[in-house]
Amino acid sequence: MFCLRDYRLPDFEHLYRLDQQCFPPGIAYSRAELSSYVARKGSFTIVAEFVADETSSGEGSPAAAAKPPEAKPAIAGFITVEMHPKGYGHIITIDTRAEFRRQHLGSMLIEAAEKHVSDLGGFMTILEVAVNNAAAIAFYKRHRYVTVKTLPRYYNGELDALLLSRRL
Ligand SMILES: CC(C)(COP(=O)(O)OP(=O)(O)OC[C@H]1O[C@@H](n2cnc3c(N)ncnc32)[C@H](O)[C@@H]1OP(=O)(O)O)[C@@H](O)C(=O)NCCC(=O)NCCS
Repeated sequence: MFCLRDYRLPDFEHLYRLDQQCFPPGIAYSRAELSSYVARKGSFTIVAEFVADETSSGEGSPAAAAKPPEAKPAIAGFITVEMHPKGYGHIITIDTRAEFRRQHLGSMLIEAAEKHVSDLGGFMTILEVAVNNAAAIAFYKRHRYVTVKTLPRYYNGELDALLLSRRL
């Protein structure tokens, strides 16, 4: 089961490491970049935790008795969005851990972020995605994002990006 909550400072190192796993070198954010986006005035970050479902073992059962002491919930994903004064939310990144993909976690995160942008008075979300990131492009299309334009050599002065947007 996934639970969403607001970002807290002790999360930072986990988010940084997850971002490093999600993107190739040069595209993943450095600590300084990620920290500046997360801490920036007007930005928000939503964190997803994986909480193990305990209903199956049953209290008092041998399985429950053998369980290790309470494990801390693991960070399964996050999304960071920067609000622009003109009324749109810029999705800086959305990352889900590889073992939790295709389980609707990314959808939970983007839907929660879009709702928050809307609650803040925003009318649109935008983002950039590398042209070779087929999984993310399929994900955004599923969430009704449309291509605004191609940004030539956006990543590392080499790789093109698509600018996508969605009216809320
Ligand atoms: C993109 C990403 C956030 C999607 O997260 P996720 O938790 O797997 O997303 P969901 O399970 O909510 O997927 C929702 C839908 O998106 C589409 N989708 C997601 N991943 C897909 C893939 N690899 N191939 C095709 N379609 C995909 C599907 O329609 C999926 O619905 P379905 O599983 O019922 O078919 C995740 O793949 C990720 O973290 N990638 C690495 C980081 C990244 O590239 N982030 C985007 C930066 S621009």
